[in-house]
Amino acid sequence: MNPILVENKNGIAVLTINRPEALNALNQEVFDALDEFFEEGYKAFESLLGVVITGNGEKAFVAGADIKKFLELDESSGSELSKRGQEILFKMEAFHLPVIAAVNGFALGGGCELAMACHIRIASANAKFGQPEVNLGLIPGYGGTQRLVQLVGKGKAFELLLTGDMIDANEAHRIGLVNQVVEAGQALEAALKMVEKIASKGPKACQVIIDGMNLYFKDRDRYFYESAEFGRLMASDEGKEGATAFIEKRKPQFRK
Ligand code: CAA
Repeated sequence: MNPILVENKNGIAVLTINRPEALNALNQEVFDALDEFFEEGYKAFESLLGVVITGNGEKAFVAGADIKKFLELDESSGSELSKRGQEILFKMEAFHLPVIAAVNGFALGGGCELAMACHIRIASANAKFGQPEVNLGLIPGYGGTQRLVQLVGKGKAFELLLTGDMIDANEAHRIGLVNQVVEAGQALEAALKMVEKIASKGPKACQVIIDGMNLYFKDRDRYFYESAEFGRLMASDEGKEGATAFIEKRKPQFRK
């Protein structure tokens, strides 16, 4: 099964994360495919107007990084997993054309981070957002400690990161995490319309806006802190207990 499906909808590339059996959780194959698209794959499109990213099925956009792989990781490979995800999301964020997330369901952990690295987010009314890594004794590893505060401000970012609470699409809209909420099942259509609208504007101007905005948030050192600490927590008793509890479908015991 292809980890992402790539379609051409009237000059717009629609990338569908395609692991519905795992609620489209991000694994290495998904990241390899995303990397390939943003490096080379997009060149196969003649006159590409923009990119829309969505998830396969009605339930999930992306439910996070693949937790079932976490027990195999030590500090170094945990930190590498985080760095590689960060690098690919930087590439996406720096893409010269608009990249829009059509959030069709759960956008949790790495899924919320993937959506936040897109230039614009459109959510279906049934979408749910959150950074639940603390429930696993972890932190976000794909830039969530940096991009969430950019979108929602310090107080809400602390609350979402420290409680791991899930919020619905309307609350995500209210706090600025998403740009627009549409009826369930309509996010892809709305995202395609948004790309078409942007495509009617000056393409060079749009590219400079993307580059200029990215300059504002360029400090990479803060992301290195996140990936180093992600690896340390992944290798710790706390991280191992969190992933084991998820796999065993029970509550973690962090404090003995
Ligand atoms: N990784 C691996 N598998 C996952 C997954 C994930 N992130 N999320 C869901 N799945 C799997 C489930 O294990 C389940 O598989 P089985 O049928 O083999 O048991 C299948 O997808 C369906 O999920 P559920 O049965 O759990 O569905 P639900 O409707 O009861 O619950 C949910 C949905 C609330 C989204 C729940 O699946 C959930 O909490 N998922 C994990 C969310 C999460 O913690 N995400 C953060 C991951 S860590 C991360 O992303 C770190 C980072 O920044 C790099």
